[in-house]
Amino acid sequence: MAGVPVATDPPFGPVAKAFEPGTLGQTVRLRGWVLRSRSSGGILFLLLRDRTGSIQATARRDRIGEAAFRDAERVQIEGAVALRGTVASDPRAPGGRELRVDAVEVVHAGDPFPIFQDQTEEFLLDHRHLAIRSQENVMIFRVKAELLAAFRRFLEREEVLEMTPPILTGNPAEGGAEAFQFDYFGRPGYLSQSAQLYLEALLFPNERVYAITPSFRAEKSRTPRHLTEYTHLEVELAWTDLDGLLTFLERTICEVLHDLADRRPEELRKLGRPPEELRAVVPPFPRIRYADALERLKGQGLAVEWGSDLGTAEERALTLPESRPIFVTHFPCDLKAFYMLQSRDDPRTVEAADLLAPEGYGEIAGASCRETDVERLTERLTRTGSRVAEYEWYLDLRRHGSVPHAGFGIGIERVLRWVLRRGHIRDTTPFPRTPARHTP
Ligand code: 4AD
Ligand code: MG
Repeated sequence: MAGVPVATDPPFGPVAKAFEPGTLGQTVRLRGWVLRSRSSGGILFLLLRDRTGSIQATARRDRIGEAAFRDAERVQIEGAVALRGTVASDPRAPGGRELRVDAVEVVHAGDPFPIFQDQTEEFLLDHRHLAIRSQENVMIFRVKAELLAAFRRFLEREEVLEMTPPILTGNPAEGGAEAFQFDYFGRPGYLSQSAQLYLEALLFPNERVYAITPSFRAEKSRTPRHLTEYTHLEVELAWTDLDGLLTFLERTICEVLHDLADRRPEELRKLGRPPEELRAVVPPFPRIRYADALERLKGQGLAVEWGSDLGTAEERALTLPESRPIFVTHFPCDLKAFYMLQSRDDPRTVEAADLLAPEGYGEIAGASCRETDVERLTERLTRTGSRVAEYEWYLDLRRHGSVPHAGFGIGIERVLRWVLRRGHIRDTTPFPRTPARHTP
């Protein structure tokens, strides 16, 4: 530390408080990081930032003394300082107020900050640990925190209990091909792709459960919507069919987006999504069967054979004209995971839906009723080449009070990419993991 120690009085306050009416003319102590710094004619102008905002501070050489002034001048962008001064009104300063400094304490002058304008995407990703301090990134991750909090508030209101399923597992949940495998003390272990199977186990004593966990996908696909690690919100509900599940899912999305619009309107506006657009997302969402989606796509010149998956191009074509999400339901059985319930009226399809975000963004959630019959489950596991023995514990759930149930998984970063109109999903997570990058 250098400079003149800042007296211990008054206690440190948040920067935002300096803009309150009653603070004008008062002496305050503030601390934080330097956003900008400029020295001219014996006056040092600092733009000081803390978590609540930023304020211009002016330190005059003749007021704080020669030694302190020279120390303060050495503080770099993102250096840390503590200041004591008087809050004055100044129409030229941002927000109309400035701090007239009488003491500066340099907490850490810092090295020259390596991040400035017009750097390449690659450089910024290599310096992500510092780039996350940018105002845009700060806003993105505040919106993300609010989005997660909004989901939790909604689920609490609905009496859905939060659970903590494991991440280290002995069997893949979504098929082995995209599971990260590792050595678990001499046995194969897998990083969780989905908490679903564990949530199904926890469903029986609780009826309504959810979890927010990291999910891992060893997908080599380099697309603007795939991460190898993402935040997965999964809900599992007893006693529901597909109609009930989709009604619950669309209500979840709408109530959460409205809550977000109410709590973070400024950030949303600045990041390119007027909050009114989120308030306009209301149920019911259109529901279209996979078979009918194929017809629609054919009309748009995109021929897809029955049995093929809908890729980025197809999802884009289906959702580009929409302003709210749509469900595509009743996919072919062979396209989907072993645990999905076969439609009893058409065994070629499953009681499942993908929720596609509008404006071309595509899949943000997967939902399905779960197969309750142990024979059918065993048969599907065998057919998809899984080792049935690894799933014995899961099959047990169908031997003790098996009841109709269903659930869904929402990709939080996918939702955020749509809500914040980001071109690439990596912008929605502080330290993106992709096939090309797992550092910093
Ligand atoms: O469709 P998925 O694979 O479904 C499941 O994992 C189910 N077990 C969920 C459940 O019913 N409990 O994944 C669910 C969602 C997708 O719709 C997508 O939003 C997101 O997870 N997701 C990804 N997000 C980012 N990067 C990836 N590589 C993703 N893979 C899936
Ligand atoms: Mg899916």
